[in-house]
Amino acid sequence: METVVSGIRPTGNLHLGNYFGAVKNFVSMQQSHRCFFFIADYHSLTTHPTPENLHGNVKQVLVEYLAAGLDPEKATLYIQSDVPETAELYLLLNMNAYVGELQRVNSFKDKVRKQPDNVNAGLLTYPTLMAADVILHQASKVPVGKDQEQNLEMMRTFARRFNNMYQREYFTIPTAFNFGQDLVKVPGLDGSGKMGKSEGAANAVYLMEEPASIRKKVMRAVTDAGPTEPNQEKPEVIQNLFSLMSIVSKPETVQFFDEQYNQCQIRYGDMKKQLAEDIILFTDPIRQRIESISADQAYLSKVARMGAEKARESASKTLKEVREIIGFRSF
Ligand code: TRP
Repeated sequence: METVVSGIRPTGNLHLGNYFGAVKNFVSMQQSHRCFFFIADYHSLTTHPTPENLHGNVKQVLVEYLAAGLDPEKATLYIQSDVPETAELYLLLNMNAYVGELQRVNSFKDKVRKQPDNVNAGLLTYPTLMAADVILHQASKVPVGKDQEQNLEMMRTFARRFNNMYQREYFTIPTAFNFGQDLVKVPGLDGSGKMGKSEGAANAVYLMEEPASIRKKVMRAVTDAGPTEPNQEKPEVIQNLFSLMSIVSKPETVQFFDEQYNQCQIRYGDMKKQLAEDIILFTDPIRQRIESISADQAYLSKVARMGAEKARESASKTLKEVREIIGFRSF
């Protein structure tokens, strides 16, 4: 069985874009792979959160991923800082990571631009920490988006470098997990091609969002003046609304509004009403699970403990071998 590792940055609430773009794939992957999903709270420190924010955000993502269907019995779901082997491997990898190559990483250069007052060493060595996360479990696959390609290349470099240095095929060289046609791009409500919180809160529908708020947002979604000729091509904003509908609604529903559009009889208000109800049908059970899991401290603590235990079992085996290979040997 292939080993998969992916890190989740604890930033903000999950929206439909996160769900259909990533979480749903994690949920199906846990059936067929040896999966490690962890909350990257060490990485979070690069932006200096307060202790309260850090803890609150970690809890929120844990709760939302559980509510969305990650199964702690199937996947190993853990919090990065619960596995100190991560930090040890990170330290060891840093000895073979060169400042020059780290400075050339695009996401580092972005951060230097965005937070010039906080260019800390953690930001510079973000790719070594990521490499440690993955090779710690000898993972062969990393499901990440396009924006992480360079980080993935760095992981491969560090793993290969270690193998070359000690003349052993020790670390598995990870590759990107490609979802191919399973990769769903969820359009936003503002008519843009992408749902995301950086595009503004009104653009995204959150899994934890109340029905009333969803209805309000969807009714405000951007449309146009309507078609003037039968069967005319849909402008991008309208196409995006249809795409969103095809993700959450039944095919017959989409077909109905498509025909209405083609006959120039579409009423966007009706379409949006339907879209809102179909979104709610999907999100509301998740929202309710978010609420009940969030209140269940005993369950959360059990999940975290179980995850840490399973992850440390895998990690400590690697560290024991790595120490031996490097020459940290007992007398
Ligand atoms: N950097 C990733 C992100 O921004 C999160 C992450 C941290 C990660 N460690 C990882 C992803 C290891 C995959 C594997 O989304």
